[in-house]
Amino acid sequence: MIWPNWLPLRKDLQELTPYGAPQVHAEAAMNTNENPYPPSPTLQAAIVQSVAEIAVTLNRYPDREAIKLREALAVYISQTSHINCRAENVWAANGSNEIIQSLFLAFFGRSAMGFIPSYSMHALIAKVVGTKWIDGERNADLTFNVDIAISDVSKYKPALTFITTPNNPTGDAISFKDISRLAEAVGAEGGLLIVDEAYAEFSPEKSATTLVRDNPHVVVIRTMSKAFAFAGARLGYLIADAAVVDAMKLVRLPYHLSAITQATALVALDHRAELLGNVTKLINARTALVTELGALGLTCLPSAANFILFSGFDRPAPRLWSQLLERGVLIRDVGLSSHLRVTVGNEAENKAFIAALTQLL
Ligand SMILES: Cc1ncc(COP(=O)(O)O)c(C=O)c1O
Repeated sequence: MIWPNWLPLRKDLQELTPYGAPQVHAEAAMNTNENPYPPSPTLQAAIVQSVAEIAVTLNRYPDREAIKLREALAVYISQTSHINCRAENVWAANGSNEIIQSLFLAFFGRSAMGFIPSYSMHALIAKVVGTKWIDGERNADLTFNVDIAISDVSKYKPALTFITTPNNPTGDAISFKDISRLAEAVGAEGGLLIVDEAYAEFSPEKSATTLVRDNPHVVVIRTMSKAFAFAGARLGYLIADAAVVDAMKLVRLPYHLSAITQATALVALDHRAELLGNVTKLINARTALVTELGALGLTCLPSAANFILFSGFDRPAPRLWSQLLERGVLIRDVGLSSHLRVTVGNEAENKAFIAALTQLL
């Protein structure tokens, strides 16, 4: 983009384009790893009720510390990870993207590193806050290689090392053993290991939350946008040592989390049995999709998330992407020339995707 001369825009931002998958209407919306199941009528009613209760207090600022919500998130993590997580170990913000931004604002120091391809916002936020970003490598088959990661960490000594597990866009989960090894290496260099577990609820691997108590330089990021089917509400959080949480309070904007967000997230957490019930359904649908893609001669990377990265088609990825969109199926071109990523959808969306692909291949 050519920026007008009168605009004092930072030089290092002038070459960037805004991040974001195309937001176009499609019958099958399978491009942003959302959960395809909307809130049930019972949950909708509970949300409406809580917003009505909050409405009469909207002349006041919300709880700056979001204590009730952080306590409820700590209970959820304690139950699912079998650890003693407390509100002082949790920080919440408007989506995990805001959590990532706050981590950069507080800790960017020397440089930051991630192992690509991975979630592109890590590198993009680094750029926006003016941190040097280092691309670490993965194996040729795109899976994570802990030995490469450890050697990169000791070579570059970044302040922040990012891993994503399960990884977006590849879908592979990093073993707990590998995360522990990397955590040790990062700690030895005086950095923080940021483990982005946006898709943790879909994965059988043990969560890095269990590392935090004995490894205070491990920070785990979670979100309610995926398994909790709550992307529209914008709620992300981290689990970390209390000192990391205290540092977040230095960089957050005052009253950053609205009273409505806090109240509705609490309702969603109360209804977690119902919301997380759909996770098993999505995992089963993922297995079925992998089989169907295989039957079409395509290759899928093993996925522990709610999406699949596939390859083996006979044309450039952008072309197949457009042809699918013409047939009402929106998936994601993640910029890897021979791969496309599809989010596991509902029954109708999965059917439409396979039908369109069958027609095209
Ligand atoms: C790995 C990863 N982390 C974080 C996010 C951002 O999630 P949120 O909606 O909580 O900002 C995404 C979204 O796709 C993601 O894939």
